[in-house]
Amino acid sequence: MSILITGGTVVTASGTLDADVVVGSEKIVAVLPRGATVPETERVIDATGKYVLPGGIDVHTHMEMPFGGTSSVDTFETGTRAAAWGGTTTIVDFAVQAKGTSLLATLDKWHAKADGNCAIDYGFHMIVSDVNDTTLKEMDACISAGVNSFKMFMAYPGVFYATDGEILLAMQQAARSGATVMMHAENGIAIDQLVAQALAAGHTDPVYHGLTRPPELEGEATSRAITLAAVAACPLYIVHLSARQALAAVAEARDTGQNVFAETCPQYLYLSLDDLARPDFEGAKFVASPPLRPKDHQDSLWRGLRTNDLSVVSTDHCPFCFKDGKELGRGDFSKIPNGMPGVEHRMDLLHQGVVAGQLSLPRWVEVASTTPARMFGLYPRKGVIAAGSDADIVIYDPQARQTLSAATHHMNVDYSAYEGLEITGRVVTTLSRGRVVIDDGQYLGSTGHGTFLARGLNQYLL
Ligand code: URP
Ligand code: ZN
Ligand code: ZN
Repeated sequence: MSILITGGTVVTASGTLDADVVVGSEKIVAVLPRGATVPETERVIDATGKYVLPGGIDVHTHMEMPFGGTSSVDTFETGTRAAAWGGTTTIVDFAVQAKGTSLLATLDKWHAKADGNCAIDYGFHMIVSDVNDTTLKEMDACISAGVNSFKMFMAYPGVFYATDGEILLAMQQAARSGATVMMHAENGIAIDQLVAQALAAGHTDPVYHGLTRPPELEGEATSRAITLAAVAACPLYIVHLSARQALAAVAEARDTGQNVFAETCPQYLYLSLDDLARPDFEGAKFVASPPLRPKDHQDSLWRGLRTNDLSVVSTDHCPFCFKDGKELGRGDFSKIPNGMPGVEHRMDLLHQGVVAGQLSLPRWVEVASTTPARMFGLYPRKGVIAAGSDADIVIYDPQARQTLSAATHHMNVDYSAYEGLEITGRVVTTLSRGRVVIDDGQYLGSTGHGTFLARGLNQYLL
């Protein structure tokens, strides 16, 4: 169906424009300055008083991920639908190599989970948890299959943890093709000692999840990852950065011109160690790694977003229900499944940063859509409102008020990390490849509309 979106303010990473957007079959056909002659279309959407944005791109989600003896509770179907409600039109999820299995078999498995189930388009990164000759060779095959970013862990010994030597080998392999290594940078060996000490002292409450993963150990691991990446000449992307010490390491590397990039997540911008310390085991709802930090880290992260030392905001959406999920860790915080829900509210929470004067309007779009597209080889198909790009478009009402709550959200999880938070702004309409999937409080999409995106290389490499 051809659509004219008229009367709105088009917001892109480079500024705002009063323009009308013409959508044809799946693609944007034209962006016309207000007043220009517009073609006849089958449908006209009046966006007067609204922003017209490129659809959000969340490059860090975990749908139906096996983890901590359980599995994240959003499927590709429910999670991508919730994403669309919140103005996200592309996710890049993580396929997870289990130890002793191959990368290609893992990729097949994740294709089988997502194929025919997604409401919006999707791609994959690959989690490498078993570095050996076969895995290293398979990395090239993953790249040919459109998966050219590999997440590794300096945390979780015995599960995903890789030694510095293994990381170096994988980085060298990635570097040969220009692929990016994504790093979960926390010193898991030291953390495990602190966890054992806390439990031995009888400290079992959720807040100890935060207290046993101090920011210094994120800073140290981030510096080490940067050093290993420099030696291997490998592009490095630090995931879910939460601590000012880690940000300082990233900023220093970027100042030297190294290909080092980082993302943070809304939970680190809005929530803190105080939430982990909520009484009656409520703190379990906020257990994720790295942990929520003392409040004073938040200003550094907002500043990092403005200075581009933090280039992307993703969600690390990894939802576990409170009942029967988080509750697995009653009496032992180390058994609480790690991860928080968020895929639905990233655009809204970042818009709240615009309202509060922390981000400019174009920077909102840049960190939530345009840079993720460039960082992970999707631009200009995604991440921009321009002729020829996919018609992934969000019409956003900047004046609307909403209250975030588990009673009204669409994620398949029984709590909201932002329960009762009143915010300004909300998605009115979401288009995915020209198809209206959300409109005025109604879901009009369909399971299986979303297609797999084979991605190119990072478009920021020097
Ligand atoms: O606690 C988290 N972040 N869970 C998801 C897995 C990861 O490390 O990203
Ligand atoms: Zn991680
Ligand atoms: Zn994650």
